Amino acid sequence: MSALGPSHRLPRHIAIIMDGNGRWAKLRNLSRDKGHVRGVEATRVAIEHCVRLGIENLTLFAFSTENWNRSGQEVDHLLALLAEALENESSLLLKNNVKVKIVGNREDFSGELQKAIAKLEIATQENQGLRLFIAAGYGGRWDITNAVRTVAKKVSAGTLGISDITEDSFSEFLSLGGVTDPDLLIRTGGEQRISNYLLWQLAYSELYFTNCLWPDFSESELEAAIKSYSGRQRRFGLIGE
Ligand code: FPP
Repeated sequence: MSALGPSHRLPRHIAIIMDGNGRWAKLRNLSRDKGHVRGVEATRVAIEHCVRLGIENLTLFAFSTENWNRSGQEVDHLLALLAEALENESSLLLKNNVKVKIVGNREDFSGELQKAIAKLEIATQENQGLRLFIAAGYGGRWDITNAVRTVAKKVSAGTLGISDITEDSFSEFLSLGGVTDPDLLIRTGGEQRISNYLLWQLAYSELYFTNCLWPDFSESELEAAIKSYSGRQRRFGLIGE
């Protein structure tokens, strides 16, 4: 039973930094890998609840550019888990009418993971429900640098004039080009920072930090975040009235 009522304003786009898998495992004397496995389960719960609530866009931070610096064993496990989840969750995502897109630099991923990504994107491309963006090999600075490169190429080829570069036209070249910016950023795991996530797109997002560790993130935790968002006054630099 949802605790959200008609008086609650829903965010059109929720972005999540899913943090705390390792600590969740440590508290239980389990390996970090076990924490990530439970993290995937919490991810499924969050996606399904966003579908039920009618959220339009959900962007999950699954693997950051900085995560490449973890031990080789943990990187391998995280990426294998991602490939496995993309494969295993495919039928559930199709059933729920979810359209999936992976955002980030996939060049350094194994051929197998790149194939799993392409397969899921193609299988779900006609879906009209929740748009699920999975940020993998993603960093906000990478995203902006990549967009600058695209713009520079167009300018040097003469297909884009310098005076045509505006905030709106530039944002089209970012990974989430054309998608409404996140209204709400949720970060679990107690840290209160952005960690090179959607640096451009979070400019006016409402931020919600919770001590809940990601594997414990439940439907009611998601609803608590949405309730908090719903009670906030967004001014976008204007005055209150
Ligand atoms: C942070 O926990 C979590 C990650 C680095 C990976 C998140 C990935 C998943 C939940 C699984 C794959 C995702 C999808 C979309 C299927 P941490 O290891 O930083 O935890 P700690 O801060 O407690 O050490």
